[in-house]
Amino acid sequence: MSDRAPAVTPSRTAAVIPAAGRGVRLGPGAPKALRALGGTPMLVHAVRAMAASRAVSLVVVVAPPDGAAEVRALLDDHPLSGHDRAEVLVVPGGGTRQESVRLGLAALPADVTTVLVHDAARPLVPVDTVDAVITAVREGAPAVVPALPLADTVKQVEPRTGAAEGEPELVTGTPERALLRAVQTPQGFDRRTLDAAHEKFADSAGEGATDDAGMVERLGAPVVLVPGHEEAFKVTRPLDLVLAEAVLARRRANDGF
Ligand code: CTP
Ligand code: MG
Repeated sequence: MSDRAPAVTPSRTAAVIPAAGRGVRLGPGAPKALRALGGTPMLVHAVRAMAASRAVSLVVVVAPPDGAAEVRALLDDHPLSGHDRAEVLVVPGGGTRQESVRLGLAALPADVTTVLVHDAARPLVPVDTVDAVITAVREGAPAVVPALPLADTVKQVEPRTGAAEGEPELVTGTPERALLRAVQTPQGFDRRTLDAAHEKFADSAGEGATDDAGMVERLGAPVVLVPGHEEAFKVTRPLDLVLAEAVLARRRANDGF
């Protein structure tokens, strides 16, 4: 038995923020991540949400393929506050979310052992949720996902691609709602596991994976869920902007007391 303290492995936690999407479902306008929420770009909220965790020392923002310089300038205009000291890198993204995440991972330095992947479109995730994900990864889970039970019952249907919008679809099943969870981000990973998944499934056709943890599942590694948060919802459609503004207004009112 040795009486020496165990060697400390250098380990750093970084967050990759895919922000290269257009935001087609939000309607015409600037790329979604650059639109304002409470007067501040959604992406800036998302970067601050990651940097708010003391564990996160690096944030890699994946910008629209032709928009890296604009995003860099935007982030320089909105510096992090004094106690959020994370370094912020900007890299150009790709045509799918999966490709954008892969490009973000490629920019991580070698000493990053834990990586979060967080949608720019989830600007209001509370720091406690971020920290819970990081803690579970550091305790040994290769992939950790914040998730919530569903409010709506879900139906499986026969896909009607190409059918006129609004045409009735045939129901093929009703999964038991109690067995389902809606997943959020940040998803947290052992860095080597996520790198391996993105390497193995790099050529997936079409839309690519919309969920990093799903790629880790395909790799055969265990994925665990921790409680998500209502305020980690994704801004997808116009009504989500109304909700996000209301959440910010509530926070400002509470901060006033
Ligand atoms: N994303 C990305 N690169 C892409 C597509 C999406 O980095 N080629 C990012 C988005 O910027 C967003 C996150 O992935 O932060 C989740 O995607 P989603 O909510 O679908 O955003 P968009 O793809 O921008 O929206 P839409 O699908 O309505 O166009
Ligand atoms: Mg999308």
